[in-house]
Amino acid sequence: MIVENRAIYPGTFDPITLGHVDLINRSLQVINEIVILVAHSKKDPLFDAETRKELIATCFKNDPRVKVEVYEGLLADYARRNNIKVVLRGLRGVSDFEYEFQMATMNRRMYPDLQTLFLMASEKFFFVNSTLVKEVISHGGDVSELVPSHVEKKLKEALCSGSRSAVNP
Ligand code: COA
Repeated sequence: MIVENRAIYPGTFDPITLGHVDLINRSLQVINEIVILVAHSKKDPLFDAETRKELIATCFKNDPRVKVEVYEGLLADYARRNNIKVVLRGLRGVSDFEYEFQMATMNRRMYPDLQTLFLMASEKFFFVNSTLVKEVISHGGDVSELVPSHVEKKLKEALCSGSRSAVNP
């Protein structure tokens, strides 16, 4: 039996949420080492890649099993170059499936040894995504149960400082 010890968890992470953290922690029950790959985004991110990396690294600063890297390029190429054969992705609902199926198939086409493993999101976080978190906080909503506290602080600095009082004195 082949046992794979390392996996890549790729994403935009703009920013990391407790949904991501939960998925990573549960993955560590079956994988020894996870490389979180922060992708340069097509989506015009709020935070630059290095900031997104720092926010993730802070979550796992005491866990040597988790590494964080910024990467610009094809995931399949990174995996081949580093001899990693497992990609982790979360599925939050049926709506995630088609996109994930296409990505997994495309990645396997480029690197046939690469397997995508899917973990179901916890019911606590299946409705969470980074865009919604940013929208809620920018309107003064509470996201303290959706993102780590240092991420909440950074989001407030980026989205709340000054602008609300200028518009709504
Ligand atoms: N909990 C909470 N939210 C989650 C989540 C979880 N477990 N998993 C995903 N999400 C959310 C994210 O917050 C994000 O929300 P947003 O769109 O509102 O920001 C959304 O789901 C999708 O995010 P993510 O998992 O980061 O995927 P992505 O579509 O942004 O990333 C890459 C796609 C980076 C994995 C993909 O483009 C890639 O591999 N790029 C590298 C280049 C490459 O190889 N391209 C070819 C791919 S076939």
